[in-house]
Order: sequence, then structure tokens, then C-alpha cells
Amino acid sequence: MEKKAIKHLISWKDWADQDLRKILELARKVKLDPLRFQGHLTAKTLIMLFQKTSTRTRVSFEAGMTEMGGHAIFLDWHTTNFNLTEIGYESAYLSTNSHIMMARVKKHEELLELKEWATVPLINGCCNKYHPCQAMADMLTIYMDRGSMEGAKLTYLGVHNNVVNSLMATCAAFGVELTLVCPLTPEGAVDEEIKQKIVDKGLLVETLDQKAAVKDADYVYTDTWIDMEFFSNPDFKAMKEERIKLMLPYQINETLMKDSSAKIMHDMPIHPGYEIAAELVKHPNSIIFEQSSNRLPAQKAIMLTLLNEI
Ligand code: CP
Repeated sequence: MEKKAIKHLISWKDWADQDLRKILELARKVKLDPLRFQGHLTAKTLIMLFQKTSTRTRVSFEAGMTEMGGHAIFLDWHTTNFNLTEIGYESAYLSTNSHIMMARVKKHEELLELKEWATVPLINGCCNKYHPCQAMADMLTIYMDRGSMEGAKLTYLGVHNNVVNSLMATCAAFGVELTLVCPLTPEGAVDEEIKQKIVDKGLLVETLDQKAAVKDADYVYTDTWIDMEFFSNPDFKAMKEERIKLMLPYQINETLMKDSSAKIMHDMPIHPGYEIAAELVKHPNSIIFEQSSNRLPAQKAIMLTLLNEI
């Protein structure tokens, strides 16, 4: 099967900084004037394939397609025939009945197999290595809040995970100073190529001094300590307890934030009492719900770009 070159969004790694900037500017326009983009995706179909649960990713992609005149089809991996055959064959078929696809899978390799056979653009809706749509929404949140990106100081406290790889990629592209407070880095979690890029730009600080890291930050960000599919699974009870013990000193709470005026960010779903104290979720400095609302314009901009509809 001969394939023409198709642009996908897997990790931001193969995107130029200037292309990320164009998407951010477009996302801002979409957020400020959504009606201007009504009808831009008329008669276009998005396939949304989920191997894992989701609230925000599903709703914002589906709402985004609806608002731009297109249609989104939700597919649950477990109730389709993905378990019966090769991933690639299903991806090739889905490409024939859609204009763009988004997939949330457990293993990055499964996403690459989908991409290999896709003949329409494929968007990573979160895998174990990257969460690129979340990171673009996070950058839009900072941009809308501050009016500029260069020199913004973002501190992340938590496990080094998929979100961190995507934050490193986007912070490097936008000149955001990223401080990582990651007492736990699971084996194989770090994308070393992305990390080298942000290190080369002098934009990465790594520390375990959480108080110093939040003091002068503009934004303080956290995420779940335990992957969503393991959080309520009794088989992972011991691992969960061990992580909680290690991570609790790094919880975002009023004591930690006492001397900081940073805005508080979380990509959701929130686990109150774990990575963030409940009182911080509705704190005057919290921009968590604004951040989650930005998934919609950020992903509209991504879809418009991948479909050349701008
Ligand atoms: N942040 C995020 O991706 O949310 P969902 O898991 O609910 O989609």
C-alpha cells in the first residue's frame, strides 16, 4: 500500500518550534472567537479510539468536532474488534471511513502501529509516554493568563510521567522555564531526546527542594501519582501505598504554597488528598478548571492544522 506523507501528532518531537507557535496562536484565536471556526470541518469525521477511560479528552474532541461542523465517532477498544486482529488492519480500515483519528492507548508501541497503517492524520490522545494535547492546552492556559510565553516559570511536582515528557517538549518550544520536582522516575519514563532539547536551551531545572521550587514559580502543576488504570485496582494496592508514602511530602497544599503566589495547575482527574489538597482546587490561585476548558480550543487548533483547514 503506497502512502502519501501525512502529518500526525504523536509527541511534538517531529514538529518544529515555529509550528507549535502557529498552533498556539490559532488555539488562542479559536478560544477568543469560536464562532469564526464554525463550519470549518463540515462533513469531516473524527474517529476517537479509547483503550482507557477518559472524561476531558473524549468530551473536548467530540465537542470540538461538533462545534466546527464535523462528527466524532467514539470507539471503545474493548467492544470493537481490536482484540481479535492486528492493530494495523483495523487502523487501515478506520482510515477509509474517517478524515482524522485520535487514540488513547496504554502502550506507545500500539500508537505507532496505528500510525504505521493510518492513511489519515492520527492524534495521540495520551499514551504511557506522551500527552501532547494536554501539554498544548497547558501552554494555552499560560498564554491566556500571562499574554506571553517567554520567561514564564512553571514548576511541576510529581512522578516523571507522560505529561512531563510533553511539558518538556512544549516548554522548550515556547521558552518556558520548567522546574521538575520528581522524586520518582519509573524506568524508561523519560524521553531523553526531548529532555536534551530543553537542557540545551537552558530551560530545565531539576531539584527535590519543593519549597524553593514553588517560591518564585509563576505556575505550579501536579498530576496523579498513579496511572489512572491502576488507581482503584486492588492488584496495585502495595505499589499505590509505597508511592503515596514517597510522594506525600511533595503534595501541593497550603503549607507548601505559603510563600508562593503561583497559579495552581492540574491536568485532571484530581485525586484530592493525594497530589493536591482539596482546599487548593478551589483556591483563588487555582486555574485548574480554566486549564481543563482549554483542551477544547487547543485540540480544535490541532485538528484544523492537521486537516489543513486554516
Ligand atoms: N487530562 C485528561 O486527559 O483527562 P481525561 O483522562 O479525563 O481525558
